Amino acid sequence: MANKGTYYITTPIYYPSSNLHIGHTYCTVMADAMARFKRLQGYDVHFLTGTDEHGQKIQTKAEEAGVTPKEYVDNVVAGIKDLWKTMEISYDDFIRTTEPRHMERVQKIWKRMYDKGDIYKGAYEGLYCKECEAFWTETQAVNNVCPDCGRPVQHASEEAYFFKLSNYADKILKLYDEHPEFLEPETRRNEMRNFINQGLEDLCVSRCTFDWGIPVPNDPKHVMYVWVDALSNYITALGGPDDSEEFNKYWPADVHLVGKEIVRFHSIIWPAMLMSADLPLPKKVLGHGWLLLGGEKVSKSKAAKGMDVVDPVILIDRYGIDALKYFLLREYTFGQDGNFTNEVMLKRINFDLANDLGNLLSRTVSMIEKYCGGVVPQAKTHDETDEDLKNIAVSAASKVSDEMDKFAFNMALERIWTVVRRANKYIDEKAPWILAKDEAKKDELDTVMNHLAETLRIVSILIYPFMHTTSEKIRKQLGIEGDIIWEDSEVFNMMNGEQVKKGEQIFPRLDVEKELAELTKIAEEEAAKKAAGAVQDPVEKAIAESVPLKLKDEIVYGDFDKMDFRVGTILKAEKHPNADKLLVFQVKMGTEVRQVISGVADSFTPEEMVGKKVVVVANLKPRMLRGLESHGMLLFAGDDGRNFVVTTDAPDGEIVS
Ligand code: ME8
Ligand code: MG
Repeated sequence: MANKGTYYITTPIYYPSSNLHIGHTYCTVMADAMARFKRLQGYDVHFLTGTDEHGQKIQTKAEEAGVTPKEYVDNVVAGIKDLWKTMEISYDDFIRTTEPRHMERVQKIWKRMYDKGDIYKGAYEGLYCKECEAFWTETQAVNNVCPDCGRPVQHASEEAYFFKLSNYADKILKLYDEHPEFLEPETRRNEMRNFINQGLEDLCVSRCTFDWGIPVPNDPKHVMYVWVDALSNYITALGGPDDSEEFNKYWPADVHLVGKEIVRFHSIIWPAMLMSADLPLPKKVLGHGWLLLGGEKVSKSKAAKGMDVVDPVILIDRYGIDALKYFLLREYTFGQDGNFTNEVMLKRINFDLANDLGNLLSRTVSMIEKYCGGVVPQAKTHDETDEDLKNIAVSAASKVSDEMDKFAFNMALERIWTVVRRANKYIDEKAPWILAKDEAKKDELDTVMNHLAETLRIVSILIYPFMHTTSEKIRKQLGIEGDIIWEDSEVFNMMNGEQVKKGEQIFPRLDVEKELAELTKIAEEEAAKKAAGAVQDPVEKAIAESVPLKLKDEIVYGDFDKMDFRVGTILKAEKHPNADKLLVFQVKMGTEVRQVISGVADSFTPEEMVGKKVVVVANLKPRMLRGLESHGMLLFAGDDGRNFVVTTDAPDGEIVS
């Protein structure tokens, strides 16, 4: 087999925050099929996957579980590796970002970027939740409340390192122009162009509010923040950024396969990082669509919500690896989102696998046993129908290759199923059971049996990248020995004298209704388990438990608009000479200083009120209180003796409205 060169393909490195679901499986199954396809074509393939193990989220998850972050990820990663082992995912390397090989090399990449002058120290500004030690943006912290714990957030800034991403905007746009194939599908490229054209900001690349991360070289109170750490895996796994045998051999990657939500990081930040570190860019970033559950992205947090089973372990256990892989690759159009339901999956398995392929094999083997003593005969006659079947079968390989070049897995399989369906139709057209009744038709009958075996042999080669176990089962039943060689799928005269042997149904027919009922039951049980064990989101909990307040009569805006509130600063506070409960304030509101009296002496000493910012009802008609004038009213919360100042950061004199 001619060596066609190297082919380096990667999946995202998944967060081991909890077990993986059907969405991750989808991406990994595509990468596996492509890796197997390229190997069969004669490429020296390197297929990398792994896990992205650092960051605050994992640290928090571990704390909740009462274990160290490392213990936490070790446990989840073991499950992920088990899943890939069960599914026979043919990765060549699995990188964990907690491995020393990764951590050391990321620091080297950082140093290269730093030495280039592309990393600088600045301040990370945002809304900060003390309780959660987390920064939020204004959009995240709706109503200035922490989206995680519901407590108020404060403006804060923290020392952080930044990557000069803004310097690379033009270079990235130029990359898209000169190498449009760098980012596909095209719609994603257009989205990224628009994103860059709106202006690229420098990227915060370090944090010091948590420590579960890779220390920044020469400033270890900082850890690297997410993307420098994660993206670098694609080269650290090979031994980069310094010269090393694998790095020199496989880098640049042929394709980074990623979900559409992380295309931005892979097609803007990643090439900018590599440019900064003077390293070659990957040849292609390919963004795939999402599997949806009831219109929403299947996600780790929602994984058990719907009444469909999305746990690949359960599905494989019931239907087998190849059925699940076939379904994922055949059902969805690359680049687009698609709905996942157990029903579509079961129907697909039944129609395409049990009916079309499974039946073709079992009918063929039974007939060869019945009519030819179990030995594949030679072809002896030839007519148009034979010719048609042969042509469709031998021309499929190049069509499959063309589709695979476009990552159109569904179309590649459709090309193969065109052959399968043609062969089933051929049986109906030739009606071997009638030929068998006539001794004079023996040669014709032999030809039919030979052609069916020949077609199935070809199919066994074509499906190998997608379903290697099924391929092997077909070959075993047909008595075919020897390695799978892609080019053998383009010839039609290899079968002669093989001893066939009927085996089990390769895809037993499913009772869809019964299966659906069982899957629903499993999903419900999973959901109940999850609900029982889940820490409910505090905001959702508060919303769910909300009880309406008992209020005064409703007013209209005009009522409110009559009131003039101003910000004031208390310059002076004294006890009222004639009343124990009253305090007398001198309040400055911009240009004017007023005397205002409030009944809050049980709650505050005069001293502690001095300097406080207050909100004043400024157009309230003056009135006399025990011999002193009060012009206006200060706002307090709470009851007599338990008052709190309604205060603000605004300078005095500002209008409150
Ligand atoms: O983003 N449909 O990890 P992650 C299809 N650690 N694919 C899906 C999917 C769905 N509903 N849900 C997840 C991260 N995926 C980072 C990546 S890479 C340097 C760092 C797949 O655990 C899809 O490929 O959130 C998506 O991009 C990936 O899982 C995200 O996995
Ligand atoms: Mg994600």
